[in-house]
Amino acid sequence: MVLLALYYRQRKTYTYPPGPKGLPVIGNVLDMPRTNPWIAFRDWSRKMDSPVIGLNMMGMTMVVLNDLNSSVDLLEKRGSVYSNRPRFPMMAEACGLGWAFPLTNNMEDWKICRRYFDPFFRKAGMMRYRESQLSMARSLLTRLLDSPERFVHHIHYVTGSMIIDIAYGIHAQPEGDEFIGIADRALRGIEKCTNMSIIDILPWVQHIPSWIPGMWWKMKVDTLKSQVLQMSDVPYEWVKEQLSRGLAKPCVATDLISRFDDEMIDTSCEHREYIIKSISGTVYAAGSDTSVSALNTLFLVMALFPDVQRRAHEEIDRVVGSNRVPELFDQDNLPYITAIVKEILRWAPPLPLGMPHCATSAEIYNGYYIPKGATVLANSWAILRDPAAYFNPDDFNPSRFLTPDGTKIDPNVRDPEAVFGFGRRLCPGRFLSLESLWITTACVLAMFNIKRKVDDDGVLLPMPEELFTLGIVSHPAPFPCSITPRSEASVKLIRAVGVTQDA
Ligand code: HEM
Repeated sequence: MVLLALYYRQRKTYTYPPGPKGLPVIGNVLDMPRTNPWIAFRDWSRKMDSPVIGLNMMGMTMVVLNDLNSSVDLLEKRGSVYSNRPRFPMMAEACGLGWAFPLTNNMEDWKICRRYFDPFFRKAGMMRYRESQLSMARSLLTRLLDSPERFVHHIHYVTGSMIIDIAYGIHAQPEGDEFIGIADRALRGIEKCTNMSIIDILPWVQHIPSWIPGMWWKMKVDTLKSQVLQMSDVPYEWVKEQLSRGLAKPCVATDLISRFDDEMIDTSCEHREYIIKSISGTVYAAGSDTSVSALNTLFLVMALFPDVQRRAHEEIDRVVGSNRVPELFDQDNLPYITAIVKEILRWAPPLPLGMPHCATSAEIYNGYYIPKGATVLANSWAILRDPAAYFNPDDFNPSRFLTPDGTKIDPNVRDPEAVFGFGRRLCPGRFLSLESLWITTACVLAMFNIKRKVDDDGVLLPMPEELFTLGIVSHPAPFPCSITPRSEASVKLIRAVGVTQDA
């Protein structure tokens, strides 16, 4: 009784975080813009002079954290309250991606998955993926040479190849690989079905007339669900078969299968299988789209900002020369390339609103009341455009990360690590993705000129009005782009390193 009285007293004393006024019943549903909600959240936060804002989405409380301090205070320092996920009615339930542990709100399963997932991707263990990463980067070079206009397809394909190699030990076919096809169809389906994934974090878009799905949508979702289930089942069954024939290669799935029999003796067979499938399937589900988005942005920014590309070419030519392609050991000597990778992630975070967290108990933060069950989003986009941390934050300027003499990464400039989220749900794939992005960026820039495309009269083709799509993972919208080898020597080098990679 006493606790209840205290609780109600608190509710009277503290107010909800400020937000746009909204309407009775539907709350702020109609306040939401169709594009770039992360910008609207940041603007409201500035207007209300509060980094923490609250929205009422038809009775559901959504709290958006628009600066680093509040994100760290809540999602990291109070991790015991903010580490769960809300429900994902669209992605997890309707589309069948519930097997992927990043979406789970079963904390027992989640703990087991993270305990086994994280050791595969620690910084110290990255050496074991170097061969796959180099293959990916070099295979992209060959593909760009052969059909540059299909660069988006190539980025998907080589990223998928690297990931199924790491997760299942599958050496993908050079083209039309069955396993990549299954996973890609499932992920593209989720994205294509009118960007449904965003409905899970911004559920009000369902109530905007042009989003209201009809029966076609239901049919699509049923087909999609079976594709999404195949994504975790088919490669797993393949690995089991390879194991039984003594042919399996070391990879996440084989390692888990061999260890789980000894380590999880108290768990039922189905549950063990579920955990193994979740962990290995998640490598693809969580790792591919995010990396694809960042690599697409590489091509976009190179087309938009030729001065950045010139400086990158100059650095690579000076350090690496033209007789070989860059390798990961060149990292310390190519600080501008490292700065480009950081600036890509800062300027265009693949998950602009991170992934939603859920408050598991009512909380007071800086005088604001956050109810139990509230969905809490860290607005990574706003955090990474904070003018207090980044001068002229809307400019794409990799040099901001360098010391004044341009020779090193400046440790005094805030690292854009907010792109990987916060607290106990922090992205465990961040080291893998940073290395893969780095080597791919260095190789592509060493070998190619990337420019805006012109028509037959030499007039620049227009870029899309909205540069980025709306989704949990946001991608550059399709844009015209010209990709040509930098010289005859580049062509020879690509052929020399590429042939062995795709053989
Ligand atoms: C540029 C690439 C990537 C970006 C920007 C990125 C970003 C993120 C973000 C923002 C989250 C949510 C964190 C939170 O809830 O606060 C996340 C979660 C996650 N990421 Fe990544 N990620 C990337 C690549 C990868 C890769 C390559 C893998 C796999 C090897 C991966 C595996 C995961 C997993 C498993 C989770 C879920 C963590 C959990 O729920 O406990 N990510 N990532």
